[in-house]
Amino acid sequence: MLHIPDLLSAEQLRQCRAALQAANWQDGRHSAGHQAVGVKANQQLAQDDPLAQQLAEFVLAQLGQSPRFMAAALPLKVLPPRFNRYAEGGSYGAHIDSAVFSVPGTPHRIRADLSATLFLSEPDEYDGGELVLQDKRVKLPAGHLLLYSSGSLHRVEPVTRGARLAAFFWVQSLVREESQRNLLLELDDSIQALRQQLPDSPELLRLTGVYHNLLRQWSQT
Ligand code: NI
Repeated sequence: MLHIPDLLSAEQLRQCRAALQAANWQDGRHSAGHQAVGVKANQQLAQDDPLAQQLAEFVLAQLGQSPRFMAAALPLKVLPPRFNRYAEGGSYGAHIDSAVFSVPGTPHRIRADLSATLFLSEPDEYDGGELVLQDKRVKLPAGHLLLYSSGSLHRVEPVTRGARLAAFFWVQSLVREESQRNLLLELDDSIQALRQQLPDSPELLRLTGVYHNLLRQWSQT
């Protein structure tokens, strides 16, 4: 589980929120799989909604500019973000996300290695609505992103006051194994820190080489 703060700036968040004010929310059960349909009670924007498509492109662009997201997810393919809203007791009971998703408007499919939630409402705007996974209850500030393994059981607690807006999406990573991704992130973090402290060290060059050669061994395209 990885928390990426401030994926959106305050101004970007304000623009997203303003656009979502007038959004045409639909019953989220329309897009639930067989397993999930009985436990899902929220609202979503239709995937062919022009506003949803415009906002999805915007979020994708921000992801591409986030070094932390790129280092942690090592994305090969990112499914265009979707948008949901939980209010008036809405919740999403325990489930595991589907393994494979069709990319809308294309013949392509992606394998979901990582699930992501981009919080768009501030925690004090709603009660409940925590994302619960591995016995942790997560409620992040607006504009912050949570990345977690798509293979983990999770749920969204009922929202008992206000509304919880979020974007959510899935990532197929270059590196399928979570343990390998975690090692690469640890190595990358260490290299970045060394680059600040000892920019001319020959060992920095060697470690950077190790990083790229491990990524070469472990990545699948
Ligand atoms: Ni889910």
